[in-house]
Amino acid sequence: MSSVRSNGQRKRVFIRTYGCQMNVYDSDRMADVLRPLGYALAAVPEQADLVVLNTCHIREHASEKVYSELGRMRDLKVERRAGGSDLTIAVAGCVAQAEGEEIARRQPAVDIVVGPQAYHRLPQLLAEAERKAAIAKAGKRLPGAGVLDTDFPAESKFDHLPAPMGVRAGSAFLSIQEGCDRFCTFCVVPYTRGAEYSRPAAKVLAEARQLVEAGAIEITLLGQNVNAYHGEAPSSSLGGGTTWSLARLIREIAGIEGVARIRYTTSHPRDMDDELIAAHGEVPQLMPYLHLPVQSGSDRILEAMNRRHGRDLFLRLADRLRTARPDLALSSDFIVGFPGESDADFDDTMRLVEQVGFASAFSFKYSRRPGTPGAAMDGQVPETVKSARLHALLVLLADQARAFNASKVGQTVPVLFAEPGRRPGQLVGKTPWLQSVYANGQVRLIGRIVAARLTEGHANSLAGEIVTVDDPGACEAAA
Ligand code: SAH
Ligand code: SF4
Ligand code: F3S
Repeated sequence: MSSVRSNGQRKRVFIRTYGCQMNVYDSDRMADVLRPLGYALAAVPEQADLVVLNTCHIREHASEKVYSELGRMRDLKVERRAGGSDLTIAVAGCVAQAEGEEIARRQPAVDIVVGPQAYHRLPQLLAEAERKAAIAKAGKRLPGAGVLDTDFPAESKFDHLPAPMGVRAGSAFLSIQEGCDRFCTFCVVPYTRGAEYSRPAAKVLAEARQLVEAGAIEITLLGQNVNAYHGEAPSSSLGGGTTWSLARLIREIAGIEGVARIRYTTSHPRDMDDELIAAHGEVPQLMPYLHLPVQSGSDRILEAMNRRHGRDLFLRLADRLRTARPDLALSSDFIVGFPGESDADFDDTMRLVEQVGFASAFSFKYSRRPGTPGAAMDGQVPETVKSARLHALLVLLADQARAFNASKVGQTVPVLFAEPGRRPGQLVGKTPWLQSVYANGQVRLIGRIVAARLTEGHANSLAGEIVTVDDPGACEAAA
């Protein structure tokens, strides 16, 4: 298909990302796939020839947002066609996977529906959409092309993606594992992303090196269940079996020159093995922060959720991790109002939170997702009860987050600056414990790790002052 508009300008794509880090990674990779076709990035849909909504299906609210956004895109398309040009509308991500046919029915202006395992085929899908749109236009009909690709292909998309282009502010995501075989009874991910798949270690290491060459100093390893990673070992690796664990992979990535920070997300408590706990104590680049979703503190609810562990395992893990790395900040996800959750079950969650002490957390009201076992369970909890429990939990977690941030005030810590802050002259960055820090500093410090003294702690961030800038020239390329 043509890479330029009829007026000779380059074509532009606008990509809107909803949901988790996996989608952030996929959106960047879709931009990489579209770049050789001549597409530059647009900042707003109004400037774009192609709009991609990269969607999330995890809760009802997330997927409904997509349909209202599609209504706006339809209006834009009508306007364009009235003016003699066009707008191609694509829906990608987990709603595309779960509701492909329904999207086309509910919003006929959609041209392309592409699942999270199929977007490497966007060039072919666009060509097909262009062909179909030409026919539709000739017939003076509004509908989009209705091209659908939600297959889980036999070969991995990773083998068909171009090398990652650009790294933002020194920090990069690297997807190492996809899909999930755990089938928690509330969760759509096993259906939208498919079976668990670990990329071969050699390919992950090659991508890590490319990212470092492109300017990354922090790499976050991604997967829906990232600590279940068991990628094929490189043929050159001596000993250690035919697959590598996440711990082994982290140690190898730490050996790449230039990697200052390593993180990984999201983990399942059942897959925290001894080797990975040990790595937290032994690999200096592995940051002292772990997002480890527990969902509930009640054994009964954990069982109904099919989490395959009880509260004791989580408490033990928290202890062992803190023994390995005493300053480790723990973060988690919680669901309140899962079917059958009683006041006593919810109290168990509150007590677990009090016992562990979290640096940060995400809490959600249970959302009934079509096709998941939880949706059909007895004992659905009324909305008012869910709201009251969520509020109580949020108050407790906010107190803990504030206390954690306050505990760092007065310390001088390394901050990786990521972007300008809201106020003029201000930058915002991350501590090793993933806290946001606001400090006055020059834009050229973006993408660098700089020592900052923390002066004030709040619920969601800290204020700081930059202390030293030892090597002022070094950040120019990364900024
Ligand atoms: N793979 C990760 C996270 C998956 S989704 C894990 O295993 O923990 C991110 C979070 O969304 C989950 O941890 C859970 O807290 C929340 N979530 C998932 N399905 C949900 C549902 N049906 N209702 C409410 N929250 C949900
Ligand atoms: Fe969903 Fe559970 Fe898999 Fe996490 S482990 S992605 S919550 S099924
Ligand atoms: Fe949402 Fe899919 Fe991620 S459902 S949370 S975008 S894996």
